[in-house]
Amino acid sequence: MKTTVKLFMAIVALSCAVACGEKSSLPDYLNPEVYVEARIDDAMSRMTLDEKIAIIHAQSKFSSAGVPRLGIPELWTTDGPHGIRPEVLWDEWVQAGWTNDKCVAFPALTALAATWNTDMAALYGKSIGEEARYREKDVLLGPGVNIYRSPLNGRNFEYMGEDPYLASRMVVPYVQGVQRNGVAACVKHYALNNSETFRHTTEPVVDDRTLYEIYLPAFKAAVVEGGAWSIMGAYNLFRGEHACHNDLLLNKILKGEWGFDGAVISDWGGTHDTREAITNGLDLEFGTWTDGLTMGKTNSYDLYHLADAYKKLIESGEYTTKELDDKVRRVLRLMYRTSMNRDKPMGSLVSDEHIAAAYTIGAEGIVLLKNDNNILPINLETTKTIAVIGENAIKMMTIGGGSSSLKVKKEVSPLEGLRKRVGDSAEILYARGYVGDTTSVYKRVDSGQRLADDRSEKELIAEAVDVAKRADVVLYFGGLNKAKRQDCEGTDRESLGLPYSQDKLIAALAEVTDRVVFVNISGNAVAMPWIDSVPAIVQGWYLGSEAGNSLAAVLVGDVNPSGKLPFTFPVQLADTGAHSMGQFSKDGEEYYGEGLLVGYRWNDAKDVAPLFAFGHGLSYTTFEYGEAKINRTTMKQGGEVTITVPVTNTGSRSGKEVVQLYIADREASVMRPEKELKGFVKVELEAGQTKNVEFTVDSSALSYFDDKSHSWVAEAGEFEALIGAAADDIRTSVLFNLK
Ligand code: GLC
Repeated sequence: MKTTVKLFMAIVALSCAVACGEKSSLPDYLNPEVYVEARIDDAMSRMTLDEKIAIIHAQSKFSSAGVPRLGIPELWTTDGPHGIRPEVLWDEWVQAGWTNDKCVAFPALTALAATWNTDMAALYGKSIGEEARYREKDVLLGPGVNIYRSPLNGRNFEYMGEDPYLASRMVVPYVQGVQRNGVAACVKHYALNNSETFRHTTEPVVDDRTLYEIYLPAFKAAVVEGGAWSIMGAYNLFRGEHACHNDLLLNKILKGEWGFDGAVISDWGGTHDTREAITNGLDLEFGTWTDGLTMGKTNSYDLYHLADAYKKLIESGEYTTKELDDKVRRVLRLMYRTSMNRDKPMGSLVSDEHIAAAYTIGAEGIVLLKNDNNILPINLETTKTIAVIGENAIKMMTIGGGSSSLKVKKEVSPLEGLRKRVGDSAEILYARGYVGDTTSVYKRVDSGQRLADDRSEKELIAEAVDVAKRADVVLYFGGLNKAKRQDCEGTDRESLGLPYSQDKLIAALAEVTDRVVFVNISGNAVAMPWIDSVPAIVQGWYLGSEAGNSLAAVLVGDVNPSGKLPFTFPVQLADTGAHSMGQFSKDGEEYYGEGLLVGYRWNDAKDVAPLFAFGHGLSYTTFEYGEAKINRTTMKQGGEVTITVPVTNTGSRSGKEVVQLYIADREASVMRPEKELKGFVKVELEAGQTKNVEFTVDSSALSYFDDKSHSWVAEAGEFEALIGAAADDIRTSVLFNLK
């Protein structure tokens, strides 16, 4: 009774306070977060054992039960990181065939990471959160922040690159943007899900330093800074336990060290042991008996680990309700933040703002990798004929690739975007060039394309070469395509090279013209044996609904490209740590032998030149860096130094530059990577303009994880701050000492 009265008073006071928008000035006990705890206590005190068990496991493919008797609605989750998956039938993977669930596909997260612009991450989170909210989803199953360890990993396109600092900075605004809509982000896949083919049985072997310095930071930032309300466990094992019920990862690190107060949700089919599920930190079990893509058409939800089996173990006395009550509390907290949150905005779907956001983020994420003789941007005053070649100029990319596949209201292909932008100021010729993946239906989403083409490779190449001969510039759209083993969940790539004999085609084109632009539509690096005969190269990503418009804008120069690579393009697989010192995509133990030396850290350690470096990206203008200055050359423990660098736009048009700060520990008592990204600033400069870019460096930027003391340590001694335009393009540096 007392609780009810208190609660009633709380609701009355809160309502009028919220009504006059003074939530933040409320006394603590009326603060929504604290007040939520009061409501959780109240609900807990009323729930039966059956009701508690019911809300900690799925009741359908993507929903879990509420407590109807108490007016608590069921909880709805949805994929994915790039847009809101079409509605599925209760217990199916294929779409239900609704007519009002088409969405906007936003650029893949590698493209978001490539913007190196946290404002874009905020815009992304806000936009996708509004779409999820409008579709009445409570949990968005994304973003993914697994580290890009190998260019063969099938799901790299869903993640934010190879560097933990970049991924950490970019994930926070995304999470906050989603959650401001009363929709929980569910950051995935925690942790060490860095390959796909054996994702259910692989067991990465990494030491604590590598775990804490490379594979955990982005998840920690999402939780500690982003305030993520849920986390998804990964499929793989780690140190003997599946990640979905892993005492070290979930209880000790996530909930212990990081103080995570949200709910841990299993990946679909990631729960394998009832007792571990009870004691090792899992809060909400989904998709058991499924693999998250295909099998498991019908599930009996009472057979889940955290269902009847759990109830029996409580009734037998083997377990008290201690663990159950913690799970229920966390799930209720997730509900009060989402389904039971009365302050939620209404959301919106396929709004002009969301379409504009997809376009803007896409255009800002495109990376100009090479531009000899300034082939780009295409000058529409002088260019009369443009050849567009390649299947990826026409193929829809918003379907396919696994659980992130979408049913969009509209997708603008590169060819369509170019035709629209170029209009009649130049003639556009198209040739298929190669036939890759002709799938046009994916989980009953039909792209409407009929891509079958039974011409021989010889005919296809001959046609493309003929078209190329007649053009002033050739735009070749190739790369990968989210088909199996070509950037697709559940399967890793089998080689670094381009599929479907594209190398042969590109070489044939380069034979007849020195004006080929290769646009790589992919979420991964690819080998480029023909690179010396192709003067311009663009990393075009999977850009979603507005792909063709974003790409056309950059290619004709409406937008000055400012993207930078979030991962290294190696010349060959052997030039990566994972494929020379480590193991990749293995059943059972998978030794991450390269340890800390992931991405550019490997290139630096082995002095191996990449094809294109982490952080590399050209512009249609040029930037000059002045000398770095530091405000003091000695930093005390717990203190900080400020480093400033003048950057000038020395070209003829405005542009944005990503100024990168790397830190090198010159007197480390342990092995440390040569340098590590610890800061970046994206700065916009008019032609001729100079701005002073400022970095504040504190001991967190100097620290390594000491696995003996299990703590972050910044060792006294000399450090060097290196400032540059890419990991292999340091322009200036300054030394300083840590006392
Ligand atoms: C899949 C994926 C996960 C997805 C879930 C639901 O297996 O691993 O990212 O959110 O299952 O589709």
